[in-house]
Amino acid sequence: MEHHHVKDIWNADLYDGNHSFVSKFGSHLLELLSPVEEEQILDIGCGTGDLAHKIYQHGAHVTGVDKSENMVHQANIKYPDVTFIAKDVLELEYNNSFDAVFSNATLHWVKQPEEALQHIYNSLKSGGRFVAEFGGKDNVQIITNEIILQIKKAGIPYTPDQFPWYFPSIGKYTTLMEKTGFHVTFAQHFDRPTPLEGETGLRNWMKMFCGNIFENQPEAIQEHVMIHVENNLKETLYQDGQWIADYKRLRVVGIKNG
Ligand code: BEZ
Repeated sequence: MEHHHVKDIWNADLYDGNHSFVSKFGSHLLELLSPVEEEQILDIGCGTGDLAHKIYQHGAHVTGVDKSENMVHQANIKYPDVTFIAKDVLELEYNNSFDAVFSNATLHWVKQPEEALQHIYNSLKSGGRFVAEFGGKDNVQIITNEIILQIKKAGIPYTPDQFPWYFPSIGKYTTLMEKTGFHVTFAQHFDRPTPLEGETGLRNWMKMFCGNIFENQPEAIQEHVMIHVENNLKETLYQDGQWIADYKRLRVVGIKNG
């Protein structure tokens, strides 16, 4: 399986320590999901399991899947009562199994959105709902534009396929959902300025998430790029002692017809 060959970039402790905002912000999405007792719910990109566990506390039966074995390992230790499986969304083989598919802050990592939607659709029972939030069009654009600029200035080769994410517009994504067969009942694209804790917040964020863009460049070069990014963005994104990232979210709900 693919994830046995690809380096697992996810450090579960770092994720829980410095990046717990990912699951904290996700709690509002749970209201959109509104899990009901005894429902079968699939959480795609469950990370270390915080939101899957919250869904479980509503009395639903939850299966959490994540491509990262590190994340799933940690999730199993934290929440032994919930089922967690290491699996990529593109490897899911469920058929008419779930009342709902939930996904927070994950689908922007999947650059084959049509395939992902098809796997999600197949996983749902007829009438089941898909409730997701992830990065939408222009997400973290101020940050990534500056990183790419500084990488090019440092003479590091960069091509757009190195961009690790898929950040669709509301129109593009809901169109794909409809093509897959979903009845789209809700879609929202909104700004969510997101604090990155402390003076080193932006640096931690870049170290955690921008591995692909740096493409195994020597530490010294990465350091050079990060210092320039920090200096150039400080005026725009650093306020009252903390960095604020220009997150833009896309939230959708779709119902499986037929
Ligand atoms: C996001 O949740 O929007 C995100 C996280 C890491 C990198 C890029 C985007």
